Amino acid sequence: MEKLYEGKAKVLYREGPDTLRVYFKDEATAFNAQKRGVIPGKGAVNNKVSAALFRYLEAHGVKTHFLEEVSDREMRVRRVEILPLEVILRFKAAGSFARRYGLKEGTPLKMPLLEFSLKNDALGDPLICENAVLALGLTTEGELEGVKAATLRVGELLKAFFAERGLELVDFKLEFGKVGGEILLADEISPDTMRLWDEKGEPLDKDRFRKDLGGVEEAYREVLRRVLG
Ligand code: TMP
Repeated sequence: MEKLYEGKAKVLYREGPDTLRVYFKDEATAFNAQKRGVIPGKGAVNNKVSAALFRYLEAHGVKTHFLEEVSDREMRVRRVEILPLEVILRFKAAGSFARRYGLKEGTPLKMPLLEFSLKNDALGDPLICENAVLALGLTTEGELEGVKAATLRVGELLKAFFAERGLELVDFKLEFGKVGGEILLADEISPDTMRLWDEKGEPLDKDRFRKDLGGVEEAYREVLRRVLG
């Protein structure tokens, strides 16, 4: 299959005229690739967790690019044109939000907070406001409203899904794509793109790698176990 794109965590191959094969790598980066490493088994975990979550969301009416798992580390998806936005939903302060406002991680928020970053590694994925998204023509107003509504719905669904499994969803990042006038949830939903805390408040996500907390592989495996369990 023709390789179309290789990113930091995934490789995309052209499969059919309208479909891609996504290969999930074990390589991990943080802080805009200033920190690099390998998390053995991560690719398989992220593939399986993403597949399970896409299926769950589809079953609850969310349109996604997911078609099927084809191997331990690969899934088949619909080919979409990715909107150049990272859509972040936060339930508690953590990560860049906590740093930006000088908050302790875990500080509750009065409401789920939606933020956008421009997907641009050279600029370090800067925060972007809705008006700038529209002024730059990155989406139409209708598309932006659709993306916001879908993200809030995904947030409700994922929060409940993880709560049932003893995990607190602290925040997550989504990407959306366009195909034939439709907007679909795309990319991945995995411990690379969410913050998940266990019953003791211990992170079971990529923060273990970002902050050198140890037990990274075990944390990823535990998330998979709970997602499938
Ligand atoms: P942040 O607090 O570092 O901005 O991250 C917010 C959420 O987005 C968190 O769940 C991790 C996820 N995320 C990504 O998926 N990709 C990224 O490049 C970054 C910086 C964060």
